[in-house]
Amino acid sequence: MHRDEKIWLTLSFGMIMIFMLITGYQAFALEMGPPSNMETIDPTKVDQTAPFDKPGVKQVGENEYEVVMTLQAFSFNPNKIEVPAGSTVTFVLTSKDVTHGFQIANTNVNAMVPPGHIQKIKQKFDKAGEYLILCNEYCGAGHQVMGTTITVK
Ligand code: CUA
Repeated sequence: MHRDEKIWLTLSFGMIMIFMLITGYQAFALEMGPPSNMETIDPTKVDQTAPFDKPGVKQVGENEYEVVMTLQAFSFNPNKIEVPAGSTVTFVLTSKDVTHGFQIANTNVNAMVPPGHIQKIKQKFDKAGEYLILCNEYCGAGHQVMGTTITVK
């Protein structure tokens, strides 16, 4: 093999290895993988299935909260969420009917919530304020009014 060929082969193989290492580091060490998992639920029995039988806000640690929420045409339950500034909130979401969206304005939170699946997504709220939560998947005639807020004080 020609010497130049060897150099280019080594370089391109090295680049592939570097890219794979960076992607792997981001996905696993920095937890930057897509916000989804494979936990499933019977969408017709959401009200009877824990934890969705008791939707609400729960403190789970010093600065940690868990929000168990159901999405349905065209509302979020609970629709009044309040957490102190500096808290990390884990949202546990499912849909009772069709696919909805869960987007929090001015954050990176943007998840799809299909019926039959449990969606978990974590967000730290450093700044106090009202954050707008929107459904961003077209879900029917009332889609454009499907929204709520989370208050950080
Ligand atoms: Cu729910 Cu659009």
